[in-house]
Amino acid sequence: MSDWLTDTRDSYDTVAASYADHTRGLLDGLPHLRAALRLFAEEVSGPVADVGCGPGDITALLHGHGVDAFGIDLSPAMVDLARASHPGLRFEVGSMTDPLPGELGGILCWWSLIHVPDELVPVVFGHFRAALRPGGLVQLGFHVGDRTNLKTQGYGGHPMRVNVHLRPPDRVAGWLREAGFAVEARWLLGDDGAVLFARG
Ligand SMILES: C[S@@+](CC[C@H](N)C(=O)[O-])C[C@H]1O[C@@H](n2cnc3c(N)ncnc32)[C@H](O)[C@@H]1O
Repeated sequence: MSDWLTDTRDSYDTVAASYADHTRGLLDGLPHLRAALRLFAEEVSGPVADVGCGPGDITALLHGHGVDAFGIDLSPAMVDLARASHPGLRFEVGSMTDPLPGELGGILCWWSLIHVPDELVPVVFGHFRAALRPGGLVQLGFHVGDRTNLKTQGYGGHPMRVNVHLRPPDRVAGWLREAGFAVEARWLLGDDGAVLFARG
């Protein structure tokens, strides 16, 4: 495993419990992001992977919207937590830099591609395309900007060592098109967030 991936995994293992505390219920105050999730849930059919699912709360919300959702995360501690919090749902350890299980109706990837370096984003989108059924939907959520921040602590002051790549939505949309997706919508959230919808 490359150094950046090991650092990312270990960082999220360290903060898993405090991340879960910090983000629980956050969506209640984010109506546009809730709407994006609801629209995604309406548009997908078949199994849906929540990639970089963290503590699994968004996976559970998707399930609550009637979606056959399961979660994948790099961090074993996040997956343990997700399994404990949502015992009826399936969560697996894995990285989006590796191929995903196939025949998916959709892929949700919220604020986790932000840790993947630029040169590997096309690889990740190739895996997404290969795993999706024709007509399947991808929804990406990410930080908007054009720089990389090294995050050295977070979620209650715990030590982390993780790169956070902020990107312009046009660049991400370009990578999606090069991977064979049709970009259907780009929603800007405030000044520093975006959600993209792309069809395979
Ligand atoms: C900022 S959290 C977002 C969690 C969740 N998607 C949410 O919106 O609350 C980033 C998550 O992505 C996971 N992650 C980072 N790199 C990953 C990778 N290469 N493959 C799968 N998960 C990854 C981390 O372990 C962490 O749980």
